[in-house]
Amino acid sequence: MASRTPPPCTLTDLAALPAAQEAAAALLVEGFRDHWPDAWPDLDSARQEVAGMLAAERLARAALAPDGTLLGWIGGIPEYDGLVWELHPLVVRADGRGQGVGRALVADLETLCAARGGLTLMLGTDDEDGMTTLAGADLYPDVLGALAAIQDRKGHPFGFYRRCGFSLIGVIPDANGRGKPDILMGKRIGK
Ligand SMILES: CC(C)(COP(=O)(O)OP(=O)(O)OC[C@H]1O[C@@H](n2cnc3c(N)ncnc32)[C@H](O)[C@@H]1OP(=O)(O)O)[C@@H](O)C(=O)NCCC(=O)NCCS
Repeated sequence: MASRTPPPCTLTDLAALPAAQEAAAALLVEGFRDHWPDAWPDLDSARQEVAGMLAAERLARAALAPDGTLLGWIGGIPEYDGLVWELHPLVVRADGRGQGVGRALVADLETLCAARGGLTLMLGTDDEDGMTTLAGADLYPDVLGALAAIQDRKGHPFGFYRRCGFSLIGVIPDANGRGKPDILMGKRIGK
């Protein structure tokens, strides 16, 4: 397999970078505005998210550009007594995308979660904006059939997570309102 050029970033703990935490909040607002406008509609809600992710039992990792500015960040939340970790949130600065930063953040989180005893990394990725064939459709009664046949319409991140080795593991119909599902994905990380 051809080796990939490493992304132009350094990975480190967001908790150790007070200055980057404000940038992390701004990235949530900017990064989710187009397709998930209700996620973090303003800086205050995003600041609360960042602060919550700095809790001792959670993971919050930053990708820094060579000039020290924040390129992106990722969080991890332990569940099921730490055997399962939820990846939440993940965002890469718009001008830093497509260079492997997102993949590097996910790989780093996988390593850290596995070192803490995690066996599975999972996530929910909403479709509130008609980005996949699961949106705007009645998924019942063959919910899993609809999931297996999912197609991308406009760059939904489930394609990114697939590239990172995640499998589709479920879908919650109408999670965000009628026809707006939450797509569940998971990956084995532990030995
Ligand atoms: C999704 C996101 C984190 C990806 O970050 P990124 O740094 O651009 O991703 P990478 O460059 O590491 O991409 C890794 C691979 O995934 C692919 N990829 C990236 N985004 C993709 C998408 N939306 N659909 C399909 N494939 C995608 C890349 O082409 C690359 O493929 P490769 O295996 O051929 O190299 C970034 O686009 C982002 O922050 N989006 C807005 C917020 C968001 O959607 N967060 C996730 C919500 S659950």
